Amino acid sequence: MNTIRVAIDGPSGAGKSTLARSAAKKLGFWYVDTGAIYRTIGLYVYRKRAFPGDGAAVAALLPEIHAEVRYDAEGRQKMYLNGEDVSEEIRIPEISDYASRVAEVPAVRDYLMEMQRSLARDHNVIMDGRDIGTVVLPDAEVKIYLTASIEERAKRRMLDYERKGTPKPYEEVLQEARERDYRDSHREIAPLRQAEDAALLDTTELDEQESEAALLRLIRERVGQ
Ligand code: DC
Repeated sequence: MNTIRVAIDGPSGAGKSTLARSAAKKLGFWYVDTGAIYRTIGLYVYRKRAFPGDGAAVAALLPEIHAEVRYDAEGRQKMYLNGEDVSEEIRIPEISDYASRVAEVPAVRDYLMEMQRSLARDHNVIMDGRDIGTVVLPDAEVKIYLTASIEERAKRRMLDYERKGTPKPYEEVLQEARERDYRDSHREIAPLRQAEDAALLDTTELDEQESEAALLRLIRERVGQ
């Protein structure tokens, strides 16, 4: 079956998941959040109290890990780690850092490659991450690079922390965002970058509704739906 694959990449906090999820719903596509898969590996490393920056130690844990993507009745993506639903736990702030670090380990990226590709084989998907248009689905029908200024992304993240009841000062959130951006775009393998054939969508000046409309417009223009 010829599926339609929409690859969305960009830095953290650009609104990828929120926008990709709602666009997928409108189009009747599956939404695949690949960051959640890296977070699941990060969570296992965290639970084992291993250092996520130690590539050899992380690689040695991989045979013990069975990470699985499942969809619930409402079509929401759930992450399972060795049979346990960890969809909530992978969202704790420590795991953002662990995920970003284990994502630098080549063995982790290799291990997750086939899993990500197979999800796009049988279904129309919107898949978001850092290397979807460049590495995972280089021949995706639609590629979008979704971004916003680092100050705006830090502001949005700060509001998220507030909403969750764990407020953090702006400067701290901005610094975290800088560090994660640096790691995600300077690692040796599959660094975050805009694919040459990706359309750029900058949401710095757009609210959520405007961003979603712009995203849907880009997708529809390219697949004629
Ligand atoms: O999108 P997110 O914040 O949930 O992703 C968590 C980390 O996983 C992020 O810092 C980088 C990494 N990641 C990656 O390297 N490649 C992807 N395709 C998706 C995420």
